[in-house]
Amino acid sequence: MSLENKVAIITGAARGIGFAVAKRFVLDGAKVVIADVDDAAGEQAEEDLKALGEATYIHCNVAERLDVRNLVAETINAYGEIDILVNNAGVVAGADFLELEEEDFDRVLSINLKGAFLCSQAVARHFVERIEEGGTPGCIINMSSINAVVGIPNQIPYCVSKGGLRQLTNTTALALAPHGIRVNAIGPGSIMTEMLASVNSDPAARNKILSRTPLQRVGEPSEIASVAAFLASDEASYVTGQTIYADGGRLPLNYTVPVPDAD
Ligand SMILES: NC(=O)c1ccc[n+]([C@@H]2O[C@H](COP(=O)([O-])OP(=O)(O)OC[C@H]3O[C@@H](n4cnc5c(N)ncnc54)[C@H](O)[C@@H]3O)[C@@H](O)[C@H]2O)c1
Repeated sequence: MSLENKVAIITGAARGIGFAVAKRFVLDGAKVVIADVDDAAGEQAEEDLKALGEATYIHCNVAERLDVRNLVAETINAYGEIDILVNNAGVVAGADFLELEEEDFDRVLSINLKGAFLCSQAVARHFVERIEEGGTPGCIINMSSINAVVGIPNQIPYCVSKGGLRQLTNTTALALAPHGIRVNAIGPGSIMTEMLASVNSDPAARNKILSRTPLQRVGEPSEIASVAAFLASDEASYVTGQTIYADGGRLPLNYTVPVPDAD
């Protein structure tokens, strides 16, 4: 699947799933902009990816409209245009419902959901201008989660944000379809990143996750990146408004499955 010479913005790409998507896109020939708030990790990611191809780090808090405006302007300045947006930046805030702080609810929703809206709108405006000048439509990919449809009782803002992202995907896909712009989402299950670091060190956490994972293992960031590469490519030219759940079989599962012994 070629992304030769495509320009992609990936938010939250300084590490984890976002970095894996950025790396895959660079290997597939894209020029990649890493948008993140962690400058040290972002600059390191830029250096790592420059060894493979074309990449630039731009500081951007996706929850801030002016940061997003600057991200789009700087990307166009550097690469002339934008073809792909991956709304991947995401945070969690664990708390029992009765103790949940309003600021934590607002923070998670503003990054995970409003941030995706702000980036999508800013980039879609560029896409439409380009189409009106005779250019080709771009596409948007939202990093959702299985928590868009199932829940964790002490991760309420996170689950609400991902549920909202599901409808943001559906509605923006409909709104942008007349322009030929495709909008899809990926719903990862449990993927081995810092968000899930406890699984390596805590057998109880490992058992909990694997008992709900029919493929009997945690996923790798590269396995999410390959879904993103498909959705971003022309191979997915008739796919819009969809969420692909890459979750090792969790969503269809009722009850639990046996857990294999640890290595
Ligand atoms: N890891 C999993 O198991 C899993 C499962 C389902 C969905 N996801 C989703 O995948 C995405 C990436 O998750 P991850 O596990 O790689 O997380 P991660 O914590 O490893 O990386 C998240 C990145 O987002 C950046 N970020 C945080 N706030 C930001 C902001 N305001 N603006 C810009 N960047 C910001 C962080 O600095 C970091 O680089 C998230 O949207 C997450 O909800 C992850």
